[in-house]
Amino acid sequence: MKKPKFQRPTGMHDILPEDQGYFQKIYNVCETVANFYGFKKIDTPILEDTALYEKGTGLATDIVQKQMFTLRTKGRNYLTLRPEFTPGIIRAYLEHGMQTLPQPIKLYSSGPAFRYEHPQAGRYRQFHQFNLEVIGDGNSVIDAQVIQIFYNILTEIKLKKLIVEINSIGDNQCRPYYKKLLLSYLKSRDLSLCVDCRRRLRENPLRVLDCKEEKCQRIVSQAPQMIDHLCQECHDHFKGVLEFLDEIELPYRLNPYLVRGLDYYTKTVFEIFEDTEEGRKMGSLSGGGRYDALVKLLGGEDTKAIGGAMGIERVIATIKSKKIKTQKPSNPPIFLAQLGIMAKRKSLKLLEDFRKVKIQVAESFGRDSLKAQLKIADRLGVKYTLLLGQKEVLEETIIIRDMKIGRQETVKLEKVVREMQKRLKK
Ligand code: HAM
Repeated sequence: MKKPKFQRPTGMHDILPEDQGYFQKIYNVCETVANFYGFKKIDTPILEDTALYEKGTGLATDIVQKQMFTLRTKGRNYLTLRPEFTPGIIRAYLEHGMQTLPQPIKLYSSGPAFRYEHPQAGRYRQFHQFNLEVIGDGNSVIDAQVIQIFYNILTEIKLKKLIVEINSIGDNQCRPYYKKLLLSYLKSRDLSLCVDCRRRLRENPLRVLDCKEEKCQRIVSQAPQMIDHLCQECHDHFKGVLEFLDEIELPYRLNPYLVRGLDYYTKTVFEIFEDTEEGRKMGSLSGGGRYDALVKLLGGEDTKAIGGAMGIERVIATIKSKKIKTQKPSNPPIFLAQLGIMAKRKSLKLLEDFRKVKIQVAESFGRDSLKAQLKIADRLGVKYTLLLGQKEVLEETIIIRDMKIGRQETVKLEKVVREMQKRLKK
């Protein structure tokens, strides 16, 4: 095939009709589960002030440093295509005075996010997330519940062998001291670190902990661990989260090197993977954590919060690799074939009558040949074909053909909708 003149942008995908079912099914499960746990839907603009992400997601993150799609408007403002949902949701929480409502505020959203990444399997420049936030509650039971919700969604989508990786990265009380300890350890070995990690040493040494380079991982495996340096409050909080997870028997693994790539996290951070080799390669299906300082950072009162997001494309890729079936949209049970201009006119009206009673009817009104129409009816595997020709129009009748037994019957046109309702109910 000749290469078309225009192609989709690198790392961005068309979601073709045959894949829409996956998205629909996943969003349905997400929304049903989120509604059960008392979440309400919120949609925020796909573009936000660039400064919101610089402050919210954080200047030291890869997202802000390398991955934002930013544009300058005609009014000379800088706007960014959302690389993640959280800062936009907190902006909306503050802008609409939600802090004056009974807390916590539980919100869910879904839609596209954009990151200028190096595209590879499971990593795109435009991808879709299902996102949850619980704003205004610092209790450790909420951490466990948010993790449980993502776990439940993935289980309901029929994914198996899931594992939650969890860690605590402390807070402003204990993290600065730990950072110093880590920094002095890493500095003594900085010549053996990769180029990116040497930069991270200056900006955010914690990110060295989750570097995927083998030489860095070797150094990290001997590094001091945050978990051993948590202040009393963070320690108790984390202990509480793990106890709740034990109580609901959720499989988790402590990962002292899990720090996550966003600046706002405090205390609990988590990621959910499929615990297989392909699952690891794909990357986290879902990730999130507590961010008790972000609301204040964005101009609000001191407000504790936690949330997470799930990557829809990664979930779909996993479903496909496991050959998990999603329900295919059902084929219509009836095909309406017409012959001649008068019949075409009547068919157009008849189709509306079927739509009103919610019976799906396929047709091919653009075709004139009966043979071609019947071929389509056959291909669709319909139960009945309705045939409307010149003679039938004049007699105000229509032929019902039972495709399985091949029997034909003529009925009054005005009665056909009722008749088909009866037959399809049987
Ligand atoms: P995140 O870990 O950056 O967290 O993204 C969440 C999920 O989105 C990942 O686990 C992954 O499945 C998917 N994802 C991320 N980047 C890509 C990509 N380039 N291509 C395909 N899928 C991707 C956040 O976005 C946080 N805002 C989550 C959160 C909400 N934390 C607190 N509240």
